[in-house]
Amino acid sequence: MISQELNDRLTRVGRDQPAGQVLRRYWQPAALSDELKGPRPVVPVTLLGEKLVLFRDNAGELGLIGRHCPHRGADLCYGRREDNGLRCPFHGWHFDRTGQCVEQPGEPEGSKMHEQIRTPAYPLVERNGIVFAYMGPGDPPPLPNFDCFRAPDTHVFAFKGLWECNWLQALEVGIDPAHASFLHRFLEDEDPKDSYGKQFRDSAADTNIPMTKLLRDYPRPEIRVEETEFGLKLTALRHMENGLTHVRVTNQIFPEAICIPMSREMTITQWHVPIDDENCYWYSMFTSFDKPVNKELMREQRLKEHRLPDYAPRKNKRNDYGYDPEEQARETYTGMGLDINVHDQWAVESMGPIQDRTDEHLGKTDVGIVRYRRMLRAAMDALEKGEESALPMRGAVDPATIRGPLSNDAIADSADWDAASLRADAERRDACPWDAGL
Ligand code: FES
Ligand SMILES: [Fe+2]
Repeated sequence: MISQELNDRLTRVGRDQPAGQVLRRYWQPAALSDELKGPRPVVPVTLLGEKLVLFRDNAGELGLIGRHCPHRGADLCYGRREDNGLRCPFHGWHFDRTGQCVEQPGEPEGSKMHEQIRTPAYPLVERNGIVFAYMGPGDPPPLPNFDCFRAPDTHVFAFKGLWECNWLQALEVGIDPAHASFLHRFLEDEDPKDSYGKQFRDSAADTNIPMTKLLRDYPRPEIRVEETEFGLKLTALRHMENGLTHVRVTNQIFPEAICIPMSREMTITQWHVPIDDENCYWYSMFTSFDKPVNKELMREQRLKEHRLPDYAPRKNKRNDYGYDPEEQARETYTGMGLDINVHDQWAVESMGPIQDRTDEHLGKTDVGIVRYRRMLRAAMDALEKGEESALPMRGAVDPATIRGPLSNDAIADSADWDAASLRADAERRDACPWDAGL
């Protein structure tokens, strides 16, 4: 357990908060490219507590500027999309992509007042289905050379979903490898051939053991955590019978992402992006190392569970997450259906808007959480001392040189588990159409 003061320090995302300052040193997912595909590419975005509007101008360029007009605060999401910017419908003030007011048609002829008027504006980069924003000071860092960014667009599918809770508890479910044996437990195994686009439904590594069975049969993983140049590498070892060990490698990518294996052909890179202190979006890039992703099928699967335009889950706290005690007795550990996203969502939302960490009791299997909080605290302390280059990927290591991360499942002789995941990674990359021989 930690003090209330530290809990506030770790979780709050405002511009004047230490964690908010750390998050602002990194590219943040702001929207899916899909959201800008309609006839009017203008969407409201609330990111790190700031109300913004994202738009594509007539020349196809992206802009992200303050949502409230600096004149008298009207909502620029309803702005007229003209002259490579947005024009406020209230009195016609016009803003370009840099947030500069370039025209005030109601002010006296020759007025230069507009030169002094500017609304916040942030740099953007669009990659493989996600628009990222940089909201910190100075120049943004380059995007790391992770697989999800290096893969061609054909091999990456991006989606997002709303969780009504603080970003940190959302992230902490992803660096807790132990929960999968319980929260995502299926009491019966499905046929792995129906597993496309779903997590934990494939068979484990190159065996015919369904992942669901493996997680169920070996619920006490040994968890090892190492610091990396981009965050943390988490290795969960499930020592099986016959001298075999199941090795699952996942990663924390600082500050708020994880990279996890989804199936033999895909990994998921997932950011837990603060909307404000009490709400967040998960953004995922599903990266295929094999065939191009079937985007239509993956989108269709996920739209069954989410409502547009805000990507809110159809199952949520207002309908008890679809909880069915009969199902809980016979089919799943939670009684909340087969979509594991709903299980995670219940786990993190049920803690409350911001988890009260003054009353928690971390165990041995929470080592990833403990190490991550230590890393975030070190980053906040460093920034307060003006040592920005001490942050991961902000100086010591050029993000452009960072590859991977290695994320996979493997089964090996218990004596040889360390080499097994490296071998599995090398094999996957050798066979990968966009990564062969690297
Ligand atoms: S409030 Fe926007 S122009 Fe007046
Ligand atoms: Fe989970």
